[in-house]
Amino acid sequence: MSLKTNIEKLQILDLKNAEALQGGGTKRIDSQHAKGKLTARERIELLLDEGSFEEIGKFVMHRSKDFGLDKEYYLGDGVVTGYGTVNGRLIYVFAQDFTVFGGSLSETYAEKICKLMDMAMKNGAPLIGLNDSGGARIQEGVNSLAGYADIFYRNTRASGVIPQISAIMGPCAGGAVYSPALTDYIFMVENTSYMFVTGPNVVKTVTHEDVTSEELGGAITHATKSGVTHFVAANEVQCINDIKKLLSYVPSNCEEQPPFAAYETDGNEKRPKLTDLIPENPNQPYDVRELIDELVDTDSFFEVHKSYAENIVIGFARIGGRSIGIVGNQPAVLAGVLDIDASIKGARFVRFCDCFNIPLLVLEDVPGFLPGTDQEWNGIIMHGAKLLYAFSEATVPRVTVITRKAYGGAYCVMNSKHIGADLNYAWTSAEIAVMGAAGAAEIIFRKEIGEAADPQAELQHKIDEYTDKFANPYKAAHRGYVDEVIKPEDTREKLLKAFKMLENKVDTMPRKKHGNIPL
Ligand code: HXC
Repeated sequence: MSLKTNIEKLQILDLKNAEALQGGGTKRIDSQHAKGKLTARERIELLLDEGSFEEIGKFVMHRSKDFGLDKEYYLGDGVVTGYGTVNGRLIYVFAQDFTVFGGSLSETYAEKICKLMDMAMKNGAPLIGLNDSGGARIQEGVNSLAGYADIFYRNTRASGVIPQISAIMGPCAGGAVYSPALTDYIFMVENTSYMFVTGPNVVKTVTHEDVTSEELGGAITHATKSGVTHFVAANEVQCINDIKKLLSYVPSNCEEQPPFAAYETDGNEKRPKLTDLIPENPNQPYDVRELIDELVDTDSFFEVHKSYAENIVIGFARIGGRSIGIVGNQPAVLAGVLDIDASIKGARFVRFCDCFNIPLLVLEDVPGFLPGTDQEWNGIIMHGAKLLYAFSEATVPRVTVITRKAYGGAYCVMNSKHIGADLNYAWTSAEIAVMGAAGAAEIIFRKEIGEAADPQAELQHKIDEYTDKFANPYKAAHRGYVDEVIKPEDTREKLLKAFKMLENKVDTMPRKKHGNIPL
């Protein structure tokens, strides 16, 4: 063994550092670029503030000896891990390197991710995973599976403690999709990212279905059909910018308050445009996004799950600089009815906001739950109960604005006072009743209508009577179920004051191990 000089020792470090930067080598990096994808390191560079990345475990190598792996080593072993800042705030990041064994997960690779997760938990900062992986490293067998399980365990333990965000930036198969599924938000990139438990070939063998990767698990499929992904970006740069935007609304951990954006009022918080938002005909739709845009700080609405269960709209926004989560029925799609998908979508979002101290604003215009065998047989009772449960257990500040319909069980579910909302406002156009006037009249006055000389005229008469009694907010206001009946133009002012008044709210759940949400 030759003795090395100090200079030579420094040179060895330089060589090793340079080698690690090469990942799986130039040819594979070129192939990654040719597919329209960035490398793991390029992605981290885009995500973090310039020069802030500190790598951990750069020289880690796998320990496998089987199937030729004793002759193939890469420094870092296919995943780049470390910490840095996004807009000055600490975050932990791992980026899977597809150029090394297709980004597949080995025992040591999993250890690197677990080390990072443990640090993120101890230090209370978000964990971002940039995923691009063929799943378990096939040559490693159970060692790789064990590594996945170690990660899943930590994902679950970290849930609700620190925000966990996953971007899917390549073909993610097998174990590579379950860690993201346990995290809070999934981002996908159009045309280059896929998620499936088993790929098209296995599907063909087992079910004889012919399906492309794109149809089976592409970004659009998961954004519209399965709801697995919350965000879709046209390319990786947009995807990473969207992650940064999401981070701007959420605190670093469950003990912190969300970041506050500077806000200066121009002195006029009235929104006269809202006076004409609700059509005279209660059966005519309007777009709840128009309402949201008027209520929140300019351009601050960041929609989540945009293309899934479009009859409910959810997302983050700011009001007077304060971060809030919005859940709004969408009258422009299926009249804003609540169905299984909408209930699940809403419930998960409410729970995320509650985990991370983000106040909730509910915009209610809902004709009820969707009737029918499809919904009943697929469990609308259980899934609708998720939304009820999520609101009922939320201890963050909660405000509801009933703009129009608040019918039936949906009235109870959509953050009513009875399930713990702090303040409920109703517009003058609100209708708070068991059901719409026509349906109600047909049921309770069936006999009178049937016996009338002119049944049609009698029906109309009874509809008018029910409308007079219930198609307004005053019955509920007399009881105190609605705190104030307000003019649409005053809504933003009311919300600014309400969320300010509620900023120090303290509410606790009864002592328990954990609740049992109807899954
Ligand atoms: C080891 C792998 C690998 C894997 C890919 N590679 N997947 N090596 N283990 N799982 C290697 C390839 O051998 C190749 O090496 C390089 O990565 C690139 O792969 P390609 O096939 O050339 O790339 P592409 O055509 O883009 O296809 C990507 C892919 C495909 C769709 C991911 O590679 C694929 O189907 N891989 C297998 C996926 C899979 O079945 N994984 C196991 C799932 S089971 P070279 O040397 O040529 O560059 C699982 C169990 C966990 O994960 C369950 C926990 C709940």
